[in-house]
Amino acid sequence: MWKLIQFSSLLLGALVSPTRTCRIHNSGRSADCVGRQLSAVPRGQLPSSLQDVDLSYNNLQAVHADDFLRLPLLRVLQLQFNNISHIHVDAFKHNPLLESLNVFNNSLEEIPAGALTPLSDLKQLLMSNNLYKHATLAESFSKLVKLQDLSMGGPLVMGLKKADFLPLKNIRLQSFAIKCSSNLSYYEPGSLEVIRTRQMGFDMAVDQQPGVLVHMLHDIANNNFSVIQFRNLFEYMYYTGEEDIFRGLNDINALQLIIHRGKFNEHLLRMALMNLQIGLIRRLRVQYIDFARSPTFSDTGASSRITNLTIDKLDLWYISNPDVLRFDWRFTGSTRSSKLSIRYVYFNYVPCDSWVEMEGVELLDISYCRLQRHHAKPPHFNASSNELTSLEDLSVLTSDFRQLKVLDVSNNKLGSAEDSRNCVWTNITRLIAHHNQFVSEALLCLPTTVQHLDLSHCDLDQLDTTFFERGN
Ligand SMILES: *[C@@H]1O[C@H](CO)[C@@H](O)[C@H](O)[C@H]1NC(C)=O
Ligand SMILES: *[C@@H]1O[C@H](CO)[C@@H](O)[C@H](O)[C@H]1NC(C)=O
Ligand SMILES: *[C@@H]1O[C@H](CO)[C@@H](O)[C@H](O)[C@H]1NC(C)=O
Ligand SMILES: *[C@@H]1O[C@H](CO)[C@@H](O)[C@H](O)[C@H]1NC(C)=O
Ligand SMILES: *[C@@H]1O[C@H](CO)[C@@H](O)[C@H](O)[C@H]1NC(C)=O
Ligand SMILES: *[C@@H]1O[C@H](CO)[C@@H](O)[C@H](O)[C@H]1NC(C)=O
Ligand SMILES: *[C@@H]1O[C@H](CO)[C@@H](O)[C@H](O)[C@H]1NC(C)=O
Repeated sequence: MWKLIQFSSLLLGALVSPTRTCRIHNSGRSADCVGRQLSAVPRGQLPSSLQDVDLSYNNLQAVHADDFLRLPLLRVLQLQFNNISHIHVDAFKHNPLLESLNVFNNSLEEIPAGALTPLSDLKQLLMSNNLYKHATLAESFSKLVKLQDLSMGGPLVMGLKKADFLPLKNIRLQSFAIKCSSNLSYYEPGSLEVIRTRQMGFDMAVDQQPGVLVHMLHDIANNNFSVIQFRNLFEYMYYTGEEDIFRGLNDINALQLIIHRGKFNEHLLRMALMNLQIGLIRRLRVQYIDFARSPTFSDTGASSRITNLTIDKLDLWYISNPDVLRFDWRFTGSTRSSKLSIRYVYFNYVPCDSWVEMEGVELLDISYCRLQRHHAKPPHFNASSNELTSLEDLSVLTSDFRQLKVLDVSNNKLGSAEDSRNCVWTNITRLIAHHNQFVSEALLCLPTTVQHLDLSHCDLDQLDTTFFERGN
């Protein structure tokens, strides 16, 4: 143990040693100066042959006029995760070939337009997560005609204005990402209208102004996206409003929509799916969200059912609440060949050190093909090693898989009397349910079609034979 501590402190010492210089490699074309606690660019150590310099994760406070003066071949410069609050207007004057500049996560209080916009070869500019208060691009940004990837914004940008991105109106991007304060205060309709991109990333919480989502969706509808991602759409609270804030989704043309992190309840998931029914989006992935049921949801029959979902794939991944299984998955009507994949459903009350192990837990990953009856392969449902408590919910969920024969629910918390009442099963022949906590009343809720039943280690000290009399 002592050796281990000694070894790791040595290792740490080596990694952060301030005396260590940059590593020059790739025949003098690349410099690796990552994480050296540098508070200034080590100019003397950078040969003029360099094309690629990585100074990320240091303590740089500014980029001075002469920092990169002697690097005429510089194409890629990485300055992310420093504390740069100022970039001199002439900082890149002698680097006309610069194609990629990363100043993500620094302390810039202004967008350094003067230093950036003469760089006519610039293809990638990542300047999000800085401390500027407005995302307004100077007119000179219109000169960056080769720009492909642009990220901007930060925690102090309170909102977007109609003129913010006008200089980009003739530039076709590959990716565009915008971050705003989690207390978004305003969004002027039209702000994102000029953006043309294949990928779009929003890191904006609309908790304070849920209605702006409708304007944003409207503004981006002229694109042909490969993917759109909303990160932390609701940061503090679950959306409970009645207004359908996803109502522009049906006009969005995208291969995939990703909802990443944030608070996302059943109500909002339904709202998204309802709009996707009539839309062009092919895949939806909802991941790492903090999911909650919406107890006030009233099932008004057919009108509240998702009847015509034509997306190819719906992924629900890395979700901290197994209640996501209780969502009404009983799609009806012409819902066709959608794939539903529920993976990595976590339980937020497991000890932290179990998380690593939970990573691989696969709760349900099943081709959702119930309307294509010629799919004869019996699905095999494996929900082993989770925290399922309700046999009733499980039966309702699985009853849609008419071909289901084998169900593995071992190592769960099934079998209480109150959650085992009105089960509706399909014709399961093999039920593996060892390591649960069955009370004998719960046995009445088991499928009667089983030929093989494993209830070992289920705390059944006395066996009620009623269940076995029901079967034949
Ligand atoms: C970043 O620089 C500012 C001064 O510009 C200083 O107040 C702050 O402590 C620095 N932050 C870090 C994390 O070094
Ligand atoms: C930069 O990253 C650090 C660590 O992740 C974070 O605390 C800080 O808020 C970030 N700064 C900005 C301006 O986003
Ligand atoms: C959010 O911004 C509004 C002004 O737009 C302000 O009144 C409110 O106090 C802010 N809330 C938080 C949590 O910062
Ligand atoms: C969208 O872009 C892709 C790739 O560029 C192209 O194949 C597809 O036809 C486009 N779709 C529409 C509707 O423009
Ligand atoms: C279902 O979706 C298809 C394709 O989007 C559409 O043509 C059809 O009218 C829809 N049917 C209903 C009942 O909404
Ligand atoms: C279900 O998964 C568990 C864990 O991966 C595995 O041990 C078990 O054999 C699987 N059940 C079936 C029926 O394949
Ligand atoms: C289950 O089996 C019964 C009798 O074999 C049959 O009548 C019924 O249609 C089957 N149910 C399903 C959902 O396949």
